[in-house]
Amino acid sequence: MKPGMSLIRHYLQFKDLRAEEYAYLFGRTRIIKTRFKNYERYQPLADRTLAMIFEKASTRTRVSFEAGMYQMGGTVVHLTTSDSQLGRAEPVEDSARVISRMVDIVMIRTFEQSKLDAFAAHSRVPVINGLTNEYHPCQILADVYTFIEHRGDIKGKVVAWVGDGNNMANTWLQAADVLGFTLHVSSPGGYGIDPQVAGVGNARCLKTFKNPLDACRGAHLVTTDVWTSMGFEAENEARKKAFLAWCVDARMMAAAQPDALFMHCLPAHRGEEVAAEVIDGPQSVVWDEAENRMHVQKALMEYLLLGRIG
Ligand code: CP
Ligand code: NVA
Repeated sequence: MKPGMSLIRHYLQFKDLRAEEYAYLFGRTRIIKTRFKNYERYQPLADRTLAMIFEKASTRTRVSFEAGMYQMGGTVVHLTTSDSQLGRAEPVEDSARVISRMVDIVMIRTFEQSKLDAFAAHSRVPVINGLTNEYHPCQILADVYTFIEHRGDIKGKVVAWVGDGNNMANTWLQAADVLGFTLHVSSPGGYGIDPQVAGVGNARCLKTFKNPLDACRGAHLVTTDVWTSMGFEAENEARKKAFLAWCVDARMMAAAQPDALFMHCLPAHRGEEVAAEVIDGPQSVVWDEAENRMHVQKALMEYLLLGRIG
């Protein structure tokens, strides 16, 4: 940790930041993205190092954090379970104590949220959740920013979640609570969202539906995710049967607002959770959504390391 930095802020769940902080972050994202598009050098994180720890596979999270850190003038250390002592049962608390003495910020993708929490509790530097079984806050940060870019404020709007009550669904529910919109959720029996796991006590921001078509009615954004998340592969066959009717198709999009957007965190399986005509259709903003991971995370790292600019 650099001298002068006393209060460590982590980003372990979406609810770790307040609505007013998100407004600030989205404003910074716009500025940082514009600079990137104009090939303007912006390197406030020169001499800073990000450690990225992956215990699960990744394309977007790795590229967006790594490219983003280099663009901001910093550097990156990439660790996986298989090429570090993390895979040989070194306690996570010890890993946190050691790694956080050598780098300025840490991003972790792992299984249980409790492991991330344990790392953060023993870290001298900010820790960012790059996906756990329970939450994926950086993704929802990008998704909300993408919505705002295309449609303006998300407050008061309706977001329809069609599919698994997983890490993405939990994080959407936290975002609905923090930012003041309503989440419609439809999942097959036994795979629904659990507000307790999501950590959201406010029942007003969640409406559940048996029929996915009903969840989409009037929605400003329809979104989904894979039927089987990483770490749950043993359930794949059972899930393929249970989720058959939870494929976002043209009928579902037609039930939503006429200008509704479609999002998917990716990777996607066309013909499973989403029809090709939807993800490759005119309402889909999945490529902007993926790109925005990098821009929002640059703003997030800037905020966690440097505080407010200006
Ligand atoms: N959406 C997302 O987190 O993608 P990766 O698994 O490729 O990082
Ligand atoms: N729910 C998915 C998201 C992947 C980015 C998973 O956890 O595998």
